[in-house]
Amino acid sequence: MKALVLSGGRGTRLRPLTHTMAKQLVPVANQPILGYVMDHLKEAAIKETGVIVAPETQEEVREYLGDGSKWDLKINYIVQDRPLGLAHAVKTARSFLGDDKFVMYLGDNLLGKGIKDAIEKFSRSDSHCMIFLKKVQDPRAFGVAKLDEDGNIVGLVEKPKEPPSDLALVGVYLFSPVIHEAIDSIKPSWRGELEITDAIQALIQKGYKVQGEILESWWLDTGKKDDFLAANTTVLDEYVRRSIEGEVDEESNIEGRVRIEEDAIVQKSTIRGPVIIGKNARVENSFIGPYSSIGDESVIKDSVIEHVVILERSKVFGVVRLEDSLIGRDATVKKANSLRGALRLMIGDHSQVEI
Ligand code: G1P
Repeated sequence: MKALVLSGGRGTRLRPLTHTMAKQLVPVANQPILGYVMDHLKEAAIKETGVIVAPETQEEVREYLGDGSKWDLKINYIVQDRPLGLAHAVKTARSFLGDDKFVMYLGDNLLGKGIKDAIEKFSRSDSHCMIFLKKVQDPRAFGVAKLDEDGNIVGLVEKPKEPPSDLALVGVYLFSPVIHEAIDSIKPSWRGELEITDAIQALIQKGYKVQGEILESWWLDTGKKDDFLAANTTVLDEYVRRSIEGEVDEESNIEGRVRIEEDAIVQKSTIRGPVIIGKNARVENSFIGPYSSIGDESVIKDSVIEHVVILERSKVFGVVRLEDSLIGRDATVKKANSLRGALRLMIGDHSQVEI
């Protein structure tokens, strides 16, 4: 069994963060989303993985994943010149995939539970494809399954205006090599992409066995979520255990599940978990409230923050209360020293500020 991880695309829905990084590398609870995907492949004992990359972002993806040895697997990078759809990505990886069964995992999908059990089940079954379904609030943003009265999948539609159910297709798919033949039989959709949903629909039409499983764990499609903070909150809730490797002085209070990574420094501050403070970060004379992640080498001083994600090397100085916010890399937020209370902003493209 091989794996195909999709780490291409443009990430337009996660701007401005994705102006400077691949959407799959945006960190959730201080780890790039792609890192969780690779952890799941390792857990499932996958040894050979193709990683689809885009020309624009391939360098940083390669830098993060390396040769895959960190996850005990071998990576083959495959460049997809243009984002022409998930089925197009499979087509591009055709020679790498050969005639093996494979799992395709979208690199911007976060799953609460790994894929080990699913892979074992699929390997033992006579199904040609196994997909996962999850109830969502707005199915129009996803591939959606049509079921008959007995719960069997009778069809799939990509981003329907009138969804036949509220069961969305999760971004993990298990395939036997018959999928290639199905992909060869489909045409691009209205959005100009070769849709994997259409290829699976073609499998169903040709009478191949497509098995649908309701996903029991939580699932977040971070490439889509305007609510990126929600992903961070869920992951912090699920993964953070108390561990204090950095230095905390006697005037500080660390309450609950807080992870303070190595060489971080906390002085005269209160931190109430779940919270992660990254490596070499510094928190001084501040309060950090629940559901916050502070990236490596960031500095928080004389501030009160809660439910905030701060990526690497950013600074928050003298901000009395910052809530529900997402701050990118190398950014600075500080109290203005202006008598007239003037604001001074330098905001990148596609940013949002609420004052
Ligand atoms: C893709 C698939 C869609 C699936 C979703 C899961 O959507 O086309 O069927 O539900 O991933 O993340 P896209 O990310 O291209 O909008």
